[in-house]
Amino acid sequence: MIHYISNTGGGAPVNFEQAILDGFAIDGGLYVPTELPQISLATLTSWQGLSYQELALEVLSLFIDETTIPRTDLREIIQTAYAPFELKSVIPLKPLKSVPNTFMLELFHGPTLSFKDVGQAFLINVVNYFLKRKEQHLSVIVATTGDTGPAAAYFAAGKSNMDAWVLYPSGMITPEQERQMTTLPHPNIHPVAVAGCPDGGDDLDLVIANLYANIPFKEQLQLSSVNSINWGRILMQSVHYFYGYLLAIDKVGEPIHMSVPSGGFGNLCAGGLARKMGLPIKCFVIANNRNDSLNRIFTKGLFLKAPLYETPASAIDILIPYNFWRYLYFCEGVQSEQIKHWKTTFDTTGQLQFEEATFESYRRGFLSYQVSNAATLSTIKSVYEAEQYLLDPHGAVAIQAAQQLSDQLGTEKMVCLATAHPAKFSKVIKEALQVTQLPSEATHPSIEKAKSKGEKKHSCHHDYLESALMEMMEVNWAFTKGKKEIS
Ligand SMILES: Cc1ncc(COP(=O)(O)O)c(C=O)c1O
Repeated sequence: MIHYISNTGGGAPVNFEQAILDGFAIDGGLYVPTELPQISLATLTSWQGLSYQELALEVLSLFIDETTIPRTDLREIIQTAYAPFELKSVIPLKPLKSVPNTFMLELFHGPTLSFKDVGQAFLINVVNYFLKRKEQHLSVIVATTGDTGPAAAYFAAGKSNMDAWVLYPSGMITPEQERQMTTLPHPNIHPVAVAGCPDGGDDLDLVIANLYANIPFKEQLQLSSVNSINWGRILMQSVHYFYGYLLAIDKVGEPIHMSVPSGGFGNLCAGGLARKMGLPIKCFVIANNRNDSLNRIFTKGLFLKAPLYETPASAIDILIPYNFWRYLYFCEGVQSEQIKHWKTTFDTTGQLQFEEATFESYRRGFLSYQVSNAATLSTIKSVYEAEQYLLDPHGAVAIQAAQQLSDQLGTEKMVCLATAHPAKFSKVIKEALQVTQLPSEATHPSIEKAKSKGEKKHSCHHDYLESALMEMMEVNWAFTKGKKEIS
């Protein structure tokens, strides 16, 4: 039976339920499975033609045993999770006409129009399943660069055993993304606009990590995380790699490439693990914008906390790709004590140079590229003019990186991950297309509807976020529990 342990070696192994409800492992590390099941080509062949939901059931069943969630319950959780998606196919694959041999895996047909819906839909529903079974109430905190927050808020909205605190760097996400969180009327959703975040979402991650390290507070409020700290997000995101692969190939076993707009490395960690399970992905392209921490790690072996730049692909304006630590755990020759040591070095000095053997081990099967702001905008324009296909800025970064690396990639098919709908980025689209009026492809009924709704949010400065948040959360918790009157 698969158990879950910390990638930095502390604590005892736990089952899937515990790993999901904990978020972070007890030593502050990230949960990893004790083994990675291997998928043969015969099994992959037998999965051809499955719906997304059926495939998800097969993949998840490899990691979740029947005693933790019976298969019939798991099937139901998956059906419930993906019911609000606007397409029955959940994530369609579309060939591009103007970019040879290239396909877009559209991951943005969920209710909040980004690939974060794909992971959150499952995670929040499975957390809800466990909480109902245990008759427990939980507080989740998420930090967002614009997409995780709306997805978490949407799926948690109205769930009576959960409060969701959704932190975002004020002015550093788009107005569309902000309204997706602030227009939800549900009393268990608490958006918090945080001013004074020079490092954007990374500043919020640090505060969240402090709250987790405060054990009495964590226990009092039953704190958990639905950021991609949580193993459930990574596991669920591995499914779209299997599904996208099976849609793209002519014959099982055919190697293909995938290009992924990346920031925190959660999505690519999931892809990298799918490949380690046997999925024939020849090369993953790590597509970075000007915030190119991952590009530095994968080209120079240097993990460095650099200053943050604002870019058109703002959801990947991320400095610390914390899921890289989780991926490292699975790389040949790497031990958890080393990860702990490296992480401590990085946390205290802000930089870390990997030695040659580790560098060679983790970068196998990856290429990376840093896409400029101008190239992001011109890619949106050129693809739209050539075939009326409107990319969002993150999809544009994925395509541009793949094109720049085409000489090194060879002739295999390229699947680019389209991680968000362009309607979430109206200002960037206008700038890229040099228009004042948005084309219909850059609008979406849910974004339009949110414009005429009331907003609710908390506001707070980063300097006092930790104490202010603790106070707000404690009062809310007491009120929810009906333990005392609010004075
Ligand atoms: C639209 C979009 N694309 C890509 C990413 C990057 O994903 P990851 O942080 O898992 O690398 C994010 C979020 O971080 C996102 O919101």
